[in-house]
Amino acid sequence: MIVLGIETSCDETAAAVVDDRRQILAEVVLSQLEQHRPYGGIVPEIAARSHLDHLDRLIAEAMRRAGLSFADLDAIAATGGPGLIGGVMVGVTMAKAIAAVQQRPFIAVNHLEGHALTARLTDDVAFPFLLLLISGGHCQLLVVEEVGRYKRLGTTVDDAAGEAFDKGAKLLGLGYPGGPAIERAAVAGNAARFDLPRPMVGRPEPDFSFSGLKTALRQRVAALTAGGPLAVQDRADLAATLQAAIADCLADRTGRAIALARARSPGLSALVAAGGVAANGFIRARLQEIADAADLPLVVPPARLCTDNATMIAWAGVERLRRGLVDGLDFAPRPRWPLDPEAPRAIGAGVKA
Ligand code: KG4
Ligand code: ZN
Repeated sequence: MIVLGIETSCDETAAAVVDDRRQILAEVVLSQLEQHRPYGGIVPEIAARSHLDHLDRLIAEAMRRAGLSFADLDAIAATGGPGLIGGVMVGVTMAKAIAAVQQRPFIAVNHLEGHALTARLTDDVAFPFLLLLISGGHCQLLVVEEVGRYKRLGTTVDDAAGEAFDKGAKLLGLGYPGGPAIERAAVAGNAARFDLPRPMVGRPEPDFSFSGLKTALRQRVAALTAGGPLAVQDRADLAATLQAAIADCLADRTGRAIALARARSPGLSALVAAGGVAANGFIRARLQEIADAADLPLVVPPARLCTDNATMIAWAGVERLRRGLVDGLDFAPRPRWPLDPEAPRAIGAGVKA
């Protein structure tokens, strides 16, 4: 069983070919980072146009690397949402066109399901497992019970963890994306010099909040820059403090979620972390402590499969195809698409779900 996957929901244009023996036959990713960097964030119109400009060439390259023709495919999967709708439309339309010409099934994959199932490709993780999804757009704790069956235990009431890094980096005059810049700056910093809050820590529901942290950071920066620019050591100390505060929040909330997940699903097999923020070494070390204390293995897919990629979409396509879960050509791209539609909104939640 061989599936082509296409990912265009954010600022990566990607194509990959994966088979049902967990082999990655080809993967190609084109990051649009340099096109968005001058704006300090992703511009949806630029993203959609860039997907359109590059996707056909990337798919051809993935097929060439896999040594296959379209006729060898068993299905074509594309991210059907959630995400920037202009980009999602580009990927979905392309996948449908190939599926129609080759008379193969089209599979619309939920981008979050792609992240959720990656650990089954890389580490053969068994259901059920707990997923901590920490990216620029999402911050959720989910029990992954089966393909298509997810129980959301917690989410953010304001910013995602990656946004907390990105906004913090902006306040500190570090570049975009903020996570890697903060992690680098924090190496030379003292995390104990400043005091920043740990929003939500200790609460029974494993939800997250990061906007108070950003406000507190802004106040520290304002106090330190009253007489001039931020000193190099101040910047390093604040970066280390911010990283430690985010890590404390993620660790505490995840520990709470493990207890809740075990109460629901006694056979919990692992704690899985995914999303761009899972690339952070300091955070991974904190999550390892939490996993060890709970006697659960921690599984973090390699960084290139933690950030947005098409391999996860192709793999989710394999998992769906195996179960006969395919979609019609009338599938409409979805800007919003929660994995657990029954999950209540977090208390105080804004627009994020
Ligand atoms: O998963 P991702 O590549 O894209 C989506 O948002 O879907 O995640 C990007 C986010 C950005 O907010 C970025 O700052 C953060 O992941 N990130 C990191 C690190 N690398 C990327 N955050 C903390 N530490 C890192 N090393
Ligand atoms: Zn993502």
